[in-house]
Amino acid sequence: MDVSVELAPRNQKGLRLQNPLMLASGTCGYVTELEGVTDIHSPGAFVCKGTTLKPGKGNPQPRIAEVTSGMLNAIGLENIGIDSLISNQAPTWNRLGVCVIVNIAGSNTEEYVEIARRLEGTEGISGIELNISCPNVKSGGVEFGLDPETAATITREVKCVTTLPLIVKLSPGAASVSDIATAVTKAGADALTLINTFKGMAIDINRRRPLLGNTTGGLSGPILKPVALAMVYETARLVDVPLIACGGISSAEDAIEFIMAGASAVQVGTAFLVDPCIPGNILTGIKAFLSEQEVSSINKLIGCAVTNSK
Ligand SMILES: Cc1cc2nc3c(=O)[nH]c(=O)nc-3n(C[C@H](O)[C@H](O)[C@H](O)COP(=O)(O)O)c2cc1C
Repeated sequence: MDVSVELAPRNQKGLRLQNPLMLASGTCGYVTELEGVTDIHSPGAFVCKGTTLKPGKGNPQPRIAEVTSGMLNAIGLENIGIDSLISNQAPTWNRLGVCVIVNIAGSNTEEYVEIARRLEGTEGISGIELNISCPNVKSGGVEFGLDPETAATITREVKCVTTLPLIVKLSPGAASVSDIATAVTKAGADALTLINTFKGMAIDINRRRPLLGNTTGGLSGPILKPVALAMVYETARLVDVPLIACGGISSAEDAIEFIMAGASAVQVGTAFLVDPCIPGNILTGIKAFLSEQEVSSINKLIGCAVTNSK
């Protein structure tokens, strides 16, 4: 049975994953922290924490809150900075033989371009995920992902300095996710990730003030799944690049729904924080489903619900 997927067919290097299971940015650190916690050779790929030009401290505490059917996070972009990632993390990824995609974020187009330029030629890195959808930072972040022209400009400029597969991660907060998806695809994105977190908040009723230090945070977990599913399905009808689904995936059934809606791969975030065995269980469940249904390749399922509804 073939569960391998190609996420960047238009890119010279390509991005072939041994399976469609990925760990979402911000929920798997820089991978090395996971050794001994989970089998790091099981997922098809990891997307590391959003990385900026200079190291970042992130937002004030509290930064996490549980809400009904999900969680809020306002970590912000606490990260080691691109130079440390290149010198300290990439060689380890290369030695371990894990597929890592670097999630990058900047305060302006020039910063995104500079980060991508520095990554060029670095061994151990399989692709770039352009984070134009982080709701938890003061400058940059999600504002770049709300306007089709701005999103396309960053994509185009980054594409000019990189030969790595370029994935653009979209925000559910855009007035029209379809417009952003179309614009960044035309600008050269090799694949799209849908979706990042949705802006939300919680109030501490005893202290009579916002619970999170940053006031608002990003909503993730099961509550996000139907929203993400509709966005993947609608985008699959519009663009011809591979889609990577993200948002509330915690079971094989969830993953299969997204694959049928047009996703070539799925990212698991919040569910991995709850149980590090979940990605492995999802992969086992996907394989069992393919076997039960006598489907020889996962590629035969990608987008079948889109085709069947036409
Ligand atoms: C604690 C935490 C940190 C996150 N950090 C990032 C980040 O640095 N960059 C990014 O693009 N997305 C980040 N995300 C968003 C996730 O990658 C993912 O898009 C989102 O959580 C939805 O998926 P889920 O419902 O499976 O968690 C973060 C999410 C969480 C929960």
